[in-house]
Amino acid sequence: MYDYDLLVVGSANADLVIAVERRPAAGETVLGTDLVVHPGGKGANQAVAAARLGARTVLLARVGDDAYGRLLLDSQREAGVDTVGVLVGGAPTGVALITVDPSGDNSIVVSPGANGRLAPEDVRAAGSLFQASRVVSAQLEIPLETVVEVVRNLAADSRFVLNPSPPRPLPAEVLAACDPLIVNEHEARVIAGTAALGDSPESWAKSLLALGPRSVVITLGAEGALVAERAGVRVRVPSVRVDAVDTTGAGDAFTAALAWRLGRGEPLAEAAAYAARVGAAAVTRPGAQESFPTAEEVAYL
Ligand code: RIB
Repeated sequence: MYDYDLLVVGSANADLVIAVERRPAAGETVLGTDLVVHPGGKGANQAVAAARLGARTVLLARVGDDAYGRLLLDSQREAGVDTVGVLVGGAPTGVALITVDPSGDNSIVVSPGANGRLAPEDVRAAGSLFQASRVVSAQLEIPLETVVEVVRNLAADSRFVLNPSPPRPLPAEVLAACDPLIVNEHEARVIAGTAALGDSPESWAKSLLALGPRSVVITLGAEGALVAERAGVRVRVPSVRVDAVDTTGAGDAFTAALAWRLGRGEPLAEAAAYAARVGAAAVTRPGAQESFPTAEEVAYL
């Protein structure tokens, strides 16, 4: 019996958000709205999204001993996330500078701060959380050697879910643990490196599976997602049509929902279909964590 449905290992950022008419090109200055500060970061977002859906969730992360760190801790606790694994100090809290345009699309620059100090020894010290968690999820806003240590500390029958964002080439040891690896097209191309990807999502999935993951989920925006398992399963999951206000954090909500439903024993394609509805709900409201739905809201979507 596990104490937690989901352990999220990852980043926590203060999101400094400005809405703009048009995101600036290189060398360009544009004027935007007043600055708004939201709790964010891909790890912290996943933890809040899962907890809001009802998952017993714990976060392993690092924030600074500062006002942004307290904002992030408050947001986790309010959502019901266990913050026993949130370490404080070592560097200022991570910050994300975000511009959002009227279509809801964004551009993000992250200063990792304390996220960059979440070290392999922090993972080893949190061994009891790994033993107590059915599913573990991670992203790549923390050092890669820390993610390597995560896969070395998984409990024997727990499941590992990775959204490699922002993407970088991954060691075989990490790829082999992913079940699933969740990528969009850009992330797929970076992870595949010199391996030929082909020109359809089905061929991308085949190439990625050849690198070692047990399963792959390729998110395709308005085209939904493709689920592919080593066992041969290939399923297209449709998207859910909504009016997008702000896409920030929608991918994190998708990953969290998928991880939670997998932990409940759902087949990957069903979990992905549910996650698509959670991600769709998240784009209909501004901000990241504030936009994540409850299970009840998803049921009415
Ligand atoms: O995925 C969205 C997140 O990316 C934002 O909350 C921001 O902090 C960056 O990490």
